[in-house]
Amino acid sequence: MFCSLLAVLLVVSSTLATSLEKRQWTESKYCNPTNGLCYLQIVPRGTNPIYRIAIPDNASGAFDTVLEIVAPITLGWAGFAWGGSMTANPLVVAWPNGQKVTVSSRWSTNRVLPTVYSSATYKTLRSSRNDTHWSVEVACTGCSRWSGGQINTSGLAMFAWAQSRSAVSQPANPSSNFPYHNSVGTFTEPLTSAKNPASAFATYIRTTSG
Ligand code: HEM
Ligand SMILES: *[C@@H]1O[C@H](CO)[C@@H](O)[C@H](O)[C@H]1NC(C)=O
Ligand SMILES: *[C@@H]1O[C@H](CO)[C@@H](O)[C@H](O)[C@H]1NC(C)=O
Ligand SMILES: *[C@@H]1O[C@H](CO)[C@@H](O)[C@H](O)[C@H]1NC(C)=O
Repeated sequence: MFCSLLAVLLVVSSTLATSLEKRQWTESKYCNPTNGLCYLQIVPRGTNPIYRIAIPDNASGAFDTVLEIVAPITLGWAGFAWGGSMTANPLVVAWPNGQKVTVSSRWSTNRVLPTVYSSATYKTLRSSRNDTHWSVEVACTGCSRWSGGQINTSGLAMFAWAQSRSAVSQPANPSSNFPYHNSVGTFTEPLTSAKNPASAFATYIRTTSG
């Protein structure tokens, strides 16, 4: 009797917790006035980076992806997972290095320090650091599909992020070790507002570097 009452209470309280749970991010369409590209912009709750994602409007199968990370200066590194989890999908980890930002392609089969992943390659389009933020924009070849998954460009796409307040040990080295995260999160959104005319998208990637 007591046990079944407890079970009912547990079910009711977990259902309530789920329905009352605050959305952990806000999304919007962001268009950069300088380059003309539009992005799906994700602002996670808390002191976390903003993530902006852009893809071509004909995206299917293998296609290049663009990601911008705008991180509060207090963060030592920020990571982004193209398939929504720490494991079994391409990861990109970025950290400040002087006035620039180092970008590292990683993969993890376990919840331990991810190893370097050469099936995805990144071109840094721009990066900067000032008193309040560091930021980097990259184009990735090899992040749209991987062994066991792909980005869903027509339904809901799921991404994940992670960040740490501690600095990496060798900031100039893309293969550097880095410390465990202080927080992680996921978000699920359609990529409608991330889509750009394919030829303009390709031209932007080809003609930009920094
Ligand atoms: C030193 C490197 C890392 C270590 C040791 C590590 C370890 C772990 C551990 C132990 C967990 C499970 C407990 C928890 O949630 O905290 C976890 C979860 C998670 N980590 Fe990492 N992690 C590392 C780097 C990364 C990176 C680079 C990302 C990039 C996005 C990431 C994304 C996540 C996410 C999204 C979760 C929760 C969901 C999931 O398990 O997929 N981690 N990590
Ligand atoms: C610092 O960099 C961030 C991210 O790029 C930018 O939004 C902000 O306007 C910059 N601040 C100044 C004072 O330039
Ligand atoms: C993408 O999501 C749609 C709608 O949920 C689904 O029908 C489709 O199978 C998914 N595609 C992929 C490649 O996962
Ligand atoms: C998308 O458009 C670009 C640029 O016009 C082209 O190079 C690419 O082959 C197209 N991709 C697909 C899947 O049609």
